[in-house]
Amino acid sequence: MLYKVRPMSRDDVAQVTAIDREAFPTMWPPMNYHRELENQMAFYMVAVYSPPQENGGVVFPQDPKPSNWLKNKLSRHNVTGAVETIAGFAGFWMMAGEAHIISLAVKKEHRRRGLGNLLLINVVIEAIQRDAEIVTLEVRTSNFEAQNLYFKHGFISKGVRRAYYTDNREDALIMTLDNVNSQDCCQRFDSARKALETAL
Ligand SMILES: CC(C)(COP(=O)(O)OP(=O)(O)OC[C@H]1O[C@@H](n2cnc3c(N)ncnc32)[C@H](O)[C@@H]1OP(=O)(O)O)[C@@H](O)C(=O)NCCC(=O)NCCS
Repeated sequence: MLYKVRPMSRDDVAQVTAIDREAFPTMWPPMNYHRELENQMAFYMVAVYSPPQENGGVVFPQDPKPSNWLKNKLSRHNVTGAVETIAGFAGFWMMAGEAHIISLAVKKEHRRRGLGNLLLINVVIEAIQRDAEIVTLEVRTSNFEAQNLYFKHGFISKGVRRAYYTDNREDALIMTLDNVNSQDCCQRFDSARKALETAL
């Protein structure tokens, strides 16, 4: 498995901000992810890329019992000592049974490999675990790549917010996935995550 999704930490903010700037260059001011991580209503995750290593994965050869602190620090690095590569991220706010997707982006060089799917599936599953009944978001009317991704997972268009985006006054499509807490939906996303985790 080359990609793994885990909660975002403060150490990830620089890479996440770079992906945000690449994906949403005209949005100003840029999202402050340090502040988002302090927001009790928000939940953010990252997709970490682990290139195949000739010598295996992360090991701690000199320290058979590393402290938790050291272990956490080391686990952010691969065997060559390089910082982990963040390939994408997503986040949502949870309010009164509604999970509102704030951001979802994949670094350009990692697109079209299924990571957008993986992140969206994980968002929905995390939202269900936080008692969400619906998952909703706004997307630019011109952003067909993202709309396709959401349609593919059962989101439907619920209307338009006129001149929603401040950079060019573009309209936003409101897209919603209803009844995410139904048994059918939970099973569908659980199976989709298992299948994708194996494939990626
Ligand atoms: C939208 C985005 C997250 C998709 O990420 P990705 O990793 O390339 O997506 P995946 O490879 O998992 O593809 C999932 C689905 O998205 C849709 N999709 C993705 N790229 C597409 C493209 N270039 N053209 C058409 N559909 C596309 C397809 O439905 C695709 O399913 P398929 O592979 O069965 O055709 C990515 O293009 C991105 O980061 N865009 C900029 C940020 C953005 O627009 N975020 C959404 C804000 S609401």
